[in-house]
Amino acid sequence: MSQIMGDKIALSLKAPSRCRMLYQILLKERPIGEIELDQIAWRSGEAELKIEIFDSFLHRHGYGTDAVTTLVEHAFLTMNMNRVYLRVHATNECAIRCYEKAGFKKLGRLRRTITDGNTREEILLMGISRKDFHKQEQCRAV
Ligand SMILES: CC(C)(COP(=O)(O)OP(=O)(O)OC[C@H]1O[C@@H](n2cnc3c(N)ncnc32)[C@H](O)[C@@H]1OP(=O)(O)O)[C@@H](O)C(=O)NCCC(=O)NCCS
Repeated sequence: MSQIMGDKIALSLKAPSRCRMLYQILLKERPIGEIELDQIAWRSGEAELKIEIFDSFLHRHGYGTDAVTTLVEHAFLTMNMNRVYLRVHATNECAIRCYEKAGFKKLGRLRRTITDGNTREEILLMGISRKDFHKQEQCRAV
């Protein structure tokens, strides 16, 4: 079984395919969520990150940041990606904070009206480039 070790969690490859790498997030060998790189474009070196920790009881313990940091490191150092991006609801402050701690920056906003015609939602596009990742690594090493 292919595993990537984080500080508190491990990522276990569940369903690899050419365009998508799906991992289980394991806490002491127990699955607590999933994280994936989807829409992998090997030529441009871009992929979209998605994550969910299933039980809200386990939110806000640092596991999300650990999983995101671990997968981003794998994306740049092993998969040779150029950019990892994600979409998040602008109201999801916990997720946004988690992504910022992992080095993601806000790149733009999409506003869209949901099918009922009245409700509007705002989606943030966030990303981390290979250059930013290496800059961050250098700062950590100092
Ligand atoms: C989003 C998610 C993966 C984050 O994982 P997590 O383990 O809960 O996140 P972490 O504990 O690593 O980090 C969360 C940070 O947000 C902060 N935070 C939580 N709620 C917050 C709020 N309302 N406002 C501001 N910051 C908030 C926490 O304090 C923590 O920061 P800190 O370590 O500086 O104190 C997880 O909460 C989850 O699976 N949520 C449900 C699914 C989801 O929203 N997925 C993302 C879709 S884009």
